Amino acid sequence: MRTVELKPVHDAKWVAILFRGYHHNVEKEAEMKGIELTGLGENATIIHQVRRGRNEKNPFETESFIKNNKISIDLTYMFDTPEETSLSKGDIEALIPRVLEAHKMLKKEEGDIRDGDIPMTGWQNLPEEITVEHLAGLKSVTSELSREIDAFVSLGIGGSYLGIEATFRALTHNYFNQLSREKRGGAPEIYFLGQNMDPDYFRDTLDMLEGKRIGVNVISKSGTTTETAIAFRIVRQLMGRNWGEQSSRFIIATTDKEKGALRRLADNKGYHSFVIPDNIGGRFSVLTDVGLVGLAMANIDIEEFVAGFKRMRDVTVTDDFWQNPALVHAAVRYAAWSKGKNIEVVATNSNSLYPVARWMEQLFPESEGHRGHGLWVSPSLYSEKLHANGQMVQDGERNIIETFLLLRDHDNRIEIPRDQEDLDGLNFLPAKGLDMNFINRKVVEGPAYAHYLGGVPNMTIEIPNRSAYNLGQFYYMMERSVAISGYLLGHNPFIQPGVEAYKKAMFSLVGKPGFEDNAKKMAEDIKRMERIEVHA
Ligand code: PA5
Repeated sequence: MRTVELKPVHDAKWVAILFRGYHHNVEKEAEMKGIELTGLGENATIIHQVRRGRNEKNPFETESFIKNNKISIDLTYMFDTPEETSLSKGDIEALIPRVLEAHKMLKKEEGDIRDGDIPMTGWQNLPEEITVEHLAGLKSVTSELSREIDAFVSLGIGGSYLGIEATFRALTHNYFNQLSREKRGGAPEIYFLGQNMDPDYFRDTLDMLEGKRIGVNVISKSGTTTETAIAFRIVRQLMGRNWGEQSSRFIIATTDKEKGALRRLADNKGYHSFVIPDNIGGRFSVLTDVGLVGLAMANIDIEEFVAGFKRMRDVTVTDDFWQNPALVHAAVRYAAWSKGKNIEVVATNSNSLYPVARWMEQLFPESEGHRGHGLWVSPSLYSEKLHANGQMVQDGERNIIETFLLLRDHDNRIEIPRDQEDLDGLNFLPAKGLDMNFINRKVVEGPAYAHYLGGVPNMTIEIPNRSAYNLGQFYYMMERSVAISGYLLGHNPFIQPGVEAYKKAMFSLVGKPGFEDNAKKMAEDIKRMERIEVHA
């Protein structure tokens, strides 16, 4: 066996060799030209951004557009998986009467759907209620602000954050802020803060904002959420130091029409403000001004977004179970949960749709996770996760179902090059004219089959392409599905006492006035607990 002796780096001869090598590399690098994207054509995502910046619209009202943009659910691998707790089509059919009853109650706004006195189903008819005038008014505010700023910061958490970020990332370039303003279609850079309290992340984001003229939308329905309020305090102070009283002009507050600290602040300081309707909870609010302001800032076509919601509202109003994707979706998930499945892996083959899976991670667990109920939603990006928890999905505990978010058409096509030597044996791909898009579809189709054989019931939701219309359709379908799920599980999906519990504990721990009694109780509880710590 040949062994290699490692020399210590302080050996003078080795230092000299390393040093020469370094210089040699620098010289070599200097000779290298930058990579040119010859043969790739223009990035279609950028073309879409530029078109949107010019206010050029997709023909979302035409028949052919609507026909080409239908979301489908494929249940081929959902039934009769080879394991004891498999589902059958019969399980779903047995549920139809209960699902239709829930559907009827939802339409009539009956049942356990109130937060206090308010029925929280305002999202249901919202697509019909949004007026052209409202959208035009909102856009005139955002375009005026957009002209004056370099960067836009959206502050919020949970439902006041995830839907905006998901839609923004789904429809824009992955490195949006690094593109020129022209390639962003004239939109400012877009940032999100307030979704966590990590000072390093916060500081890094502030570094990116250094020297830029910023506009802010602070979003909080309650107006009292700690993370959002602290983020706003810091950003507001920096803006005040830079622009004094003027800074109020660059601040938008999106909050309740009369309650909460943020409403008071907005009224006192004269911020431009938008209202979150009483009867729509955070995670159902992406079509309200919570979502629309940030999306308009990024030049996303909000009329098209509304049209997608409207179309899915029309589709999901039907009482014909098998023609109603929201009802089918709800029934399948409920049947799976009843059979002991308690994890739903939501996997996508599209980086752009991964944040949409994260939006689902909020919508479903925050609505279903009551009284010991509900599926844990685990967002996954494939292929990446196939080389990680993919092993668990294939062969771990059989308590999993899987939902694929399959993007049918990516913006761009990338061909796989022929290679002279073909050492990796992949020349058959270009020979058959198969490109990266073809492979990326197999990243869903392959696991769907393999996981089915491994005992994981799975469905594929195919999203035609990255458009505001398709996201609107998808969001509405999921909102309706989770509402039905609440009726089936027998609890109110529109409240979140668990989230409120953590907020209360945080307020008490940080010593917020008004929470003294709870802080005392917490301190006593914690004192009584046995300390178990392991130190390395
Ligand atoms: O869906 C929800 O209701 C929550 O996730 C809220 O959106 C989240 O807690 C943020 O609340 P607020 O908008 O009151 O700051």
